[in-house]
Amino acid sequence: MTASRPTADWATLAELERDPHPTLARLRASGPVVWVPVLNGWVVTTRAENLAAMRDDVGLTVDDPRFTTGRITGPSMLSTDGPEHERHRAPFARPFRLDAIRERFTDAAAEEVARLIDAFAADGEAELRTQLAGPLAARMMILALGLDIAAEDDILGWYARIVEAVQQLSAGADEPQDGRDAYAAFADAVRVALDSAEDGSSLLAAALGDASMLTRDELTSNAAVLLFGGIETTEGMIANLLHHLLTTESLAEVAADPALLDGAIEESLRMEPAAAVLDRYATADLELAGVAIPRGDLVILSMASANRDEAVFADPDRFDPRRENARLHTTFATGPHVCLGMHLARIETRAAVLGIARALPGLRADPERPSAPRGLVFRKPPAIWAHW
Ligand code: HEM
Repeated sequence: MTASRPTADWATLAELERDPHPTLARLRASGPVVWVPVLNGWVVTTRAENLAAMRDDVGLTVDDPRFTTGRITGPSMLSTDGPEHERHRAPFARPFRLDAIRERFTDAAAEEVARLIDAFAADGEAELRTQLAGPLAARMMILALGLDIAAEDDILGWYARIVEAVQQLSAGADEPQDGRDAYAAFADAVRVALDSAEDGSSLLAAALGDASMLTRDELTSNAAVLLFGGIETTEGMIANLLHHLLTTESLAEVAADPALLDGAIEESLRMEPAAAVLDRYATADLELAGVAIPRGDLVILSMASANRDEAVFADPDRFDPRRENARLHTTFATGPHVCLGMHLARIETRAAVLGIARALPGLRADPERPSAPRGLVFRKPPAIWAHW
């Protein structure tokens, strides 16, 4: 092993949170694997090394107590590796396939978008993250899991309390009881949904049919991971695309051409992955791209950096919906933990763009209140003000 330890002691949390891309470009220039003291971890910078790291679930694992979500929800596909991961994930593979998702959700997403837009169309202005992207992502997941839509406020309340508990744990707090209570309430709602589900009536019910290898508790943990994995990220995916289309004034043009819309969705996923980093832990002393990583160290896979790797993407900081290789982005991950929800997320995003372009011709960003994605892990604009 080499003794090289490229270190970016100049990188700051403020920059990584606000606009990480200049910092990430500098990290890539330093090497494919760089120690970043403010993150207390190694950042993997190039697309090739990130792909290799995502495929390696032996040298690198998600199964570590520092992954705090698992401490609230119990083990799930997101917090296990190897055969145990396969056991948690397998029942969901069939219901989440592209054809099954298209058939089940294309119309439902369009209807939900129309309903949400109806509620603000007469106002002449809207904040599209909280009035469109967020509620669409939440409702579609509640629907997908077969939960009671009438309990939407409760479900989102539990969700917020669980996220808060996970953050407190990450900041070193003891087991936060409030998060446990919220998770218990969520688990009850899942139990009710499962008891009343008919075969295949929701993605969860469909998984139940294939889930003889999972206990009800384990199924519930995976339902929680699906709910949380599907709300924050999809809200960010939709918000980031709306931000890109509004700031480049290309919404109408893109919405009018299905191929261009596909291109814009992939290009926005490349430019701003809503989940910008994935955490892994070294299971043994190992070497990544010639850099020695001690056992137990945090290894941060940077989708945001991989997606702007100049060796793969020409002029990587430019949003170009016609970019031919935009689909080579790593935003939905690869390997054993590749995103289960990507087809559903794309359907929702497409429905959101088509819905607003049709219902609100002339929609423009409000120049007085500009939007910009931000966030260290989950990136999206806090607000997207637009008028028509
Ligand atoms: C309907 C929406 C979504 C659902 C239901 C969903 C669900 C999931 C689930 C269950 C996993 C864990 C798979 C496993 O560990 O085996 C996962 C992984 C992942 N998802 Fe999604 N997801 C959704 C949307 C998104 C979006 C919009 C993004 C990014 C823009 C995203 C990015 C990822 C990534 C990067 C992983 C890999 C995590 C890791 O390896 O640590 N997902 N998703």
